[in-house]
Amino acid sequence: MTNEVATHYAGGGDLAAAIADRLRQAGKDTFKLTTADLGTVDEFHIRGRKATLELAQSLNLSAASLVLDIGSGLGGPARTLAETYKCHVTGIDLTQAFCDAATTLSQWVGVSDRVAFRQGDATSLPFADAQFDAAMTIHVAMNIASKDKMYAEARRVLKPGGRFGVYDVLQGEGGDVLFPVPWAREPSISHLATPDAMRSLLATAGFKIVDTQDSTEESQRWFEAMAARMSQAAPAVTFQTFLGNDFPQMTRNQVRNLQERRIRTVSYVCEA
Ligand SMILES: C[S@@+](CC[C@H](N)C(=O)[O-])C[C@H]1O[C@@H](n2cnc3c(N)ncnc32)[C@H](O)[C@@H]1O
Repeated sequence: MTNEVATHYAGGGDLAAAIADRLRQAGKDTFKLTTADLGTVDEFHIRGRKATLELAQSLNLSAASLVLDIGSGLGGPARTLAETYKCHVTGIDLTQAFCDAATTLSQWVGVSDRVAFRQGDATSLPFADAQFDAAMTIHVAMNIASKDKMYAEARRVLKPGGRFGVYDVLQGEGGDVLFPVPWAREPSISHLATPDAMRSLLATAGFKIVDTQDSTEESQRWFEAMAARMSQAAPAVTFQTFLGNDFPQMTRNQVRNLQERRIRTVSYVCEA
């Protein structure tokens, strides 16, 4: 199952080279890139960089914080935190091609001294107990059936009192998800929890939930705007760079999934 998830995301080859090509096509000087230039491709979740900054605000971060990003993807959220708070962020992701690209993209924007990426599984983290001051996970658990293990691992590696920010796609009340979607082309690798199940999973793992935010309405507008942009002139640098030619269909499905409340986007701020 984990291999199928990594294959879904890995794309066709050197992701950093493909992103560099697209950036050049968009007129960017690839020797003078900023984290904001990469935001449309490396913040791989609904509502992009804005959602990362919102979640990070509640994590009590400082320059001394050691932060874990579980399911770090191309590293956009990790770089955003490192740049904003000057903290150190370790990213772990199942997909080796994403970890490699995340390392290269961090060199491009000059934050390599504050981020590190390694391949690994969220349900079996390769870290000692109580190692991190804070942790986050953004749009990852949709691919993970054993969420109990994932959240227990997050709790284990956090210091007592450390904050855990979770921003995920949940099963809504409006019916089954329409596939393909960005995290799965068919149901076998999609595992959405309901809001009720999430609260219970986080509590069972030993977390106290201190805040919950449902951003479904805003997520719907975000995907409607993306669909409108794509129906005019496709922007040069999008998730299509690695998700491939069915990304336009994924976008149309996400608009309906959100409009019909087949999915919801919800954030949780938890304390270990
Ligand atoms: C939609 S992307 C989100 C990436 C990143 N969090 C972001 O917001 O930009 C989902 C990521 O979860 C990773 N992932 C899925 N299952 C995982 C697992 N069991 N352990 C670690 N990472 C996993 C995938 O490889 C992919 O990079």
